[in-house]
Amino acid sequence: MPRAPKTPASKPFPQAAPYQGGTAVQKISIINLGDLEAEAKQVIPAGGFGYIASGSGDEWTLRENLAAFQRIPIEPRYLSGVSAPDLTVSLLGMTLSMPIIVAPMGSHGLAHVSKEEGTAKGAEAADALMVAATPSNLSLEQIAAAKPGAKWFQLYFPSDLGFARELLQRAKAAGYTAIVLTADTVWASPRETNLRNKFKTPMIQLGKGNVPLGGAEALADLSNVKKALTWDDVGFIDKACGLPVIVKGILSPTNAKTAIERGAAGIYVSNHGGRALIGAPASIAVLPRIAEGVDGRVPIILDGGVRRGADVFRALALGANVVAVGRPVLYGLALGGWMGVQSVLEYLRDDFALVMKLAGTQDLRAITRDYLSPIF
Ligand SMILES: Cc1cc2nc3c(=O)[nH]c(=O)nc-3n(C[C@H](O)[C@H](O)[C@H](O)COP(=O)(O)O)c2cc1C
Repeated sequence: MPRAPKTPASKPFPQAAPYQGGTAVQKISIINLGDLEAEAKQVIPAGGFGYIASGSGDEWTLRENLAAFQRIPIEPRYLSGVSAPDLTVSLLGMTLSMPIIVAPMGSHGLAHVSKEEGTAKGAEAADALMVAATPSNLSLEQIAAAKPGAKWFQLYFPSDLGFARELLQRAKAAGYTAIVLTADTVWASPRETNLRNKFKTPMIQLGKGNVPLGGAEALADLSNVKKALTWDDVGFIDKACGLPVIVKGILSPTNAKTAIERGAAGIYVSNHGGRALIGAPASIAVLPRIAEGVDGRVPIILDGGVRRGADVFRALALGANVVAVGRPVLYGLALGGWMGVQSVLEYLRDDFALVMKLAGTQDLRAITRDYLSPIF
């Protein structure tokens, strides 16, 4: 009898070492938020760190987000009698304790084992609004359970409209009070650091909280994000869940004007932290023209390179109502879990309050362009 051909021994599948972010849960001492990047690099695996820290293309926009803030001098008014500035701000029917919020970011598991639960708990402890992202490792319901206070949900608009509706209704049911529609990342822009590192977010290991793993609705790699997004989609969100829609990624006054005409309840000025369009301007550089066009009709949120209280002050003086912070929150998470996130947000709050005291502004309405040097 002929012998059955020997099946070749299957090659062992190359198992990547299990990914593990930071594990510490502790308050962190902060001299400035810029320092945190180097510290976080020590605890976040190289591929994950590169993913978080990098930007698209030659990273000009990433650098410019930071540099453009530094070109705006603040002119103080001394002897103004300010000792305890009021940081509270009203926004879409809520009162926030400060004009500093957590920007939407995917995959917090890259930074720390507690994933988005750590960020949510830390933001809650600092009394800051958090924007939960579609490609989170934990589900929007799990994040909401750790964040009873103010929260919004960021949407990468799924091409499957049934799934889009379901996601929006889940967000509403879980207590999110606004939807942040990300308009600037329908297509992935090349991140050279990830290409060099051959890095792909290990979603299967870390968890794709909001969508079935490997399912048709896979959103984290943008393959199932609706490509030909239009203003009609803002109307779809409104119909699906009735929550106010904030459009994220606005960088031109014309786009801001259309957004308001098409029903946006807020304008989010952002270049995705220098991770989207190569050659996009620094967010703070386009803010004055956008704010002029918006003319107070809807609130303006700005992110990209906010690292100091002086940056918060500059953004508010140029017309933003609140600023959002991205990477430093993930670095705080990596270094200290929820307590690290709390430390980052409280550092920025205190630093901003100090700038208000030194500049001589008692409340946020007092922060106007008059406090910026006319050379800007
Ligand atoms: C690791 C990482 C993941 C991000 N994921 C998202 C996302 O899922 N959705 C989104 O709208 N923006 C995302 N962003 C962009 C942030 O919301 C924000 O625009 C940017 O980080 C702000 O700049 P900053 O990091 O300089 O503060 C991400 C940014 C980083 C660094």
